[in-house]
Amino acid sequence: MYVCLCNAISDKTIREAVRRYQPKSIQQLRQIVPVGKQCGKCIRATREIMDEEMQLVPLYKEAI
Ligand code: FES
Repeated sequence: MYVCLCNAISDKTIREAVRRYQPKSIQQLRQIVPVGKQCGKCIRATREIMDEEMQLVPLYKEAI
């Protein structure tokens, strides 16, 4: 599902970036993925996805 229509960025792309780089803030995430750089309507949804993924990061670490 597309989260950012302006830049055609999907939730999958955001989740992968969060899992791989574990950004500490939405600003850091935006340096990795150009989400929310135009109209900004996707920022709230992006933040929710990021928070959700960050809660799962400890589980990924255990699985490795
Ligand atoms: S929908 Fe993401 S910047 Fe417009």
